[in-house]
Amino acid sequence: MAHQWRGVIREYADRLPVTEATKVITLGEGGTPLVHARQLSELTGSEVYLKVEGMNPTGSFKDRGMTMAMTAAVEAGAKAVVCASTGNTSASAAAYATAAGLKCAVLVPEGKISMGKLSQAIAHGATLLQVDGNFDNCLDIARKLGESYPVFLVNSVNPARIQGQKTGAFEIVDSLGDAPDIHVLPVGNAGNISAYWKGYKEYSAPFETANGTLPAVATKTPIMWGFQAAGAAPFVAGHPITEPDTIATAIRIGNPASWDTAVAARDESGGLIEAVTDDEILAAHRWLSAKEGVFVEPGSAAGVAGLIKKHAAGEVPSGKTIVITVTGHGLKDPQWALRTEDGSDVQPVKVPNDVVTVAAELGLEEK
Ligand code: F0G
Repeated sequence: MAHQWRGVIREYADRLPVTEATKVITLGEGGTPLVHARQLSELTGSEVYLKVEGMNPTGSFKDRGMTMAMTAAVEAGAKAVVCASTGNTSASAAAYATAAGLKCAVLVPEGKISMGKLSQAIAHGATLLQVDGNFDNCLDIARKLGESYPVFLVNSVNPARIQGQKTGAFEIVDSLGDAPDIHVLPVGNAGNISAYWKGYKEYSAPFETANGTLPAVATKTPIMWGFQAAGAAPFVAGHPITEPDTIATAIRIGNPASWDTAVAARDESGGLIEAVTDDEILAAHRWLSAKEGVFVEPGSAAGVAGLIKKHAAGEVPSGKTIVITVTGHGLKDPQWALRTEDGSDVQPVKVPNDVVTVAAELGLEEK
């Protein structure tokens, strides 16, 4: 029977901290495609799938957590919410605050967020402040505002966000019939790797709810592989970085808030968190759009860059099931598609309004 997806809270209500009485704030997030990546599968000899999170209402995975955070904000009687962001969290917070009828303030690092994300926050009516500092500085201020002023913090340090984001793992298991062998994703503030690991663990064991115990859905948990941008790789360094730098602005973060839970996800799963260069990120970005038909923003390609790099090093097993979360839509930051491998701009070919010339330009001969 046809089924209209109801958003992650209603779909997974029995596994989230909500009750029948909860007033759910949703824009229909989740239920995103799990796309078989033909070329990556051929490359690695494993079955590789992409969890395409750009298909969420505001174009990134943040919406899964934001439906929970905004629902919690309303439940707490908040009138205003605040977040720090490299762009996607602010776009999501602004949209969900609008749906909730709440005021929204967002703090972003000046000059370091993409135009698409900036426009989203403005379009949804958020008060956007560009801070003379990086994301980590923005998050410091947002936390202090949440502690000492009447605003509700919706960054992933709010546990409601992680609760919502864990549903990504549920959907993957529900689609594949079991957990994958390896789960790959970009790591920035480290909320998502923590959330996926929580989701996979909860789905692979009996789960206690107010109405009884749910049976395990998955027979195993995956190995978690996280990838950071080389210029913003505190987990690789083993300590926070004060001046993170990468073209992948979404993950330009030096002092991840979810440090301990990300390290736990890595170590409990027998996984790793490694770095990929900006060039490797851009090559993976091109691979996804030109070979798989999936358009993502650069930061989202870090996981794919990592898989390609590990494959080149002979470290990707064949015959396995591998899922890579591609976290945000390519239209958020489209300029990178218009740049060729050597760094020059793509120039569209101009033609006169004439079929014969157009056919010649396309190399077509008349039938
Ligand atoms: N990919 C994208 C597109 C992101 O926007 C982010 C984080 C990540 C990956 C990393 O996820 O932080 O959970 O490790 N963006 C945040 C923001 C920081 O403000 O939008 P993470």
